[in-house]
Amino acid sequence: MSIEVRQAPNGFAGEILGADPECEEDFEAVHQAFLDHGVITIRNLPLSPEAQLAFSRRFGPLMGRRPSTPDKVLMPGQPEIVILSNRKENGENVGITDAGRYWHSDLCFEEEPNLGTIVHAIEVPPEGGDTLFADLGQAYATLPDDLKSRIEGKRAAHTFRKHYLEVMAEGSPRPPLTEEQFAALKETYHPIARTHPDTGRKTLFINPGHTTHVEGMDEAESQGLLDALFEHCLQPQFIYRHKWWVGDTVIWDNRRVMHNAEPYDMGRYTRHMHRTCIHGDRPF
Ligand code: SIN
Repeated sequence: MSIEVRQAPNGFAGEILGADPECEEDFEAVHQAFLDHGVITIRNLPLSPEAQLAFSRRFGPLMGRRPSTPDKVLMPGQPEIVILSNRKENGENVGITDAGRYWHSDLCFEEEPNLGTIVHAIEVPPEGGDTLFADLGQAYATLPDDLKSRIEGKRAAHTFRKHYLEVMAEGSPRPPLTEEQFAALKETYHPIARTHPDTGRKTLFINPGHTTHVEGMDEAESQGLLDALFEHCLQPQFIYRHKWWVGDTVIWDNRRVMHNAEPYDMGRYTRHMHRTCIHGDRPF
């Protein structure tokens, strides 16, 4: 095997050098690193849209068009690729300019949420625009016993509506959802502590962006519990900060981590990335 997997110097993520996206043996090592670390970066792996799609499909079926994503930000002819970008063509944004600037797990509000996300960096700013990841597996493992018992057997509600309404009210430049898409944004309930289907480890499955309340609890108690959980999850020892390089392909496990993309100076710099999402199972 030619690939080298090493621990990121500043957190739980893994870094990989020398992976060939078309080689089955390399893929098995990449997949194992993905399960071991929760976030992995393959450095210097230029991927055409076609190569990214083929590589992403090795992890499972892709998610494609969703009610929460405006059609205008999908790559023309390849709707499984979402463009994250502040580039403009003919005066119009080609992608979502302000995607993911809050703690969340991608598409957690779906009945069968995203298993993993693959983002390939084509242009990155020299400062700002880092992505932070929080390890919710380690957060569950270190949860104080009283919090563990308070969430035992409990489910929480997830929705995209809350975040969408907030960013639109703040004047987000992203294209609006159609009425039909907005109407299709459902509220979904998932276990607060889920079992990772591949590793068997328990992880927390909540995030400040999309998780709105705990099922069967009054508002104050539910908010108090979620706030205590978020405070625990966002301690520095559970966070990995990813500083992007051109050619990075970062793969993260949405069943185990939540993430938050930091802003950058969009007047001075360009950040252009292609994102694919892999279909997951119903959490249990
Ligand atoms: C996202 O949340 O999908 C965007 C992440 C990023 O741009 O770093």
